[in-house]
Amino acid sequence: MAADLIVAQGLRKEYAGRLKQDPPTLALESFDLRVAEHEVACIVGPSGCGKTTLLNMIAGFEQPTAGTLTVRGLPIKGPSPERSVVFQQAALFPWLTVWDNVVMGPKLRGVDAAKLERDTKRVLESIGLAGFESHYPYQLSGGMRQRVQIARVLVASPDVILMDEPFGSLDAQTRIVMHEVLLRVWAEYKPTIFFITHDVEEALILADHVYVMSRRPGRVKAKIRVPFDRPRSYELIGNPEFATMRAGIVGMLREEWTGAAAQGAVATT
Ligand SMILES: Nc1ncnc2c1ncn2[C@@H]1O[C@H](COP(=O)(O)OP(=O)(O)OP(=O)(O)O)[C@@H](O)[C@H]1O
Ligand SMILES: [Mg+2]
Repeated sequence: MAADLIVAQGLRKEYAGRLKQDPPTLALESFDLRVAEHEVACIVGPSGCGKTTLLNMIAGFEQPTAGTLTVRGLPIKGPSPERSVVFQQAALFPWLTVWDNVVMGPKLRGVDAAKLERDTKRVLESIGLAGFESHYPYQLSGGMRQRVQIARVLVASPDVILMDEPFGSLDAQTRIVMHEVLLRVWAEYKPTIFFITHDVEEALILADHVYVMSRRPGRVKAKIRVPFDRPRSYELIGNPEFATMRAGIVGMLREEWTGAAAQGAVATT
């Protein structure tokens, strides 16, 4: 069994209201989570339950209000290249080529130039972007831009890759390609991946564990081990066990939605 890498215990996150008289929002409360090293952890949960809040705290962008959140046993003090984020929309510099977008972070940190060149070539190759080094972001498809973002994260060889619905804006076919790319990248580099999605099928294809969150204030309602062997492919979708697990998770999410609707608390976005 791999050691725990990310541990949340009794985590609480409260956002103050925008104005003094506005009530605070309790995003997470009594939140516990353990993600093992090298695991692909997929988080699903109703809209507004605190998934991005959790990711932002792991990234070090936000601080917990109470409780502990540690990586390798150390509290998270702020952002670090050890924990890199892939955003939903590819955040690339439009005036830089693919190559320059990918090398910029490590270059600024003073990584050895020869090593960086070797790593970048290898990463671009393994992510299917060889030959596009001199292209600018506007010359790429949405899926390719997302791959550049992932390549940029990989050259920094972080311990943890944090992904917030990274393929949410892509069409269904491109998503399938991106799943294959991500599965290959994972097999090669074995980073710990913390992946938020609304798509239960995506979660079951990628994850070692699916963490189902309750409605806000979010808690882990179930941690489900995904038993399918790796390497995985889309043929899994036809597997009866896959269909049963999918139905089970969708059912759990539905319970949260229906409960939230009964309380008049469904987010409309
Ligand atoms: N910076 C902020 N200031 C105030 N409230 C916030 C802030 N960020 C999030 N919230 C609130 O915290 C709650 C959880 O938001 P969060 O973005 O974490 O949800 P989510 O699970 O990522 O939702 P979605 O699936 O729609 O992306 C929401 O009620 C939201 O309004
Ligand atoms: Mg979110």
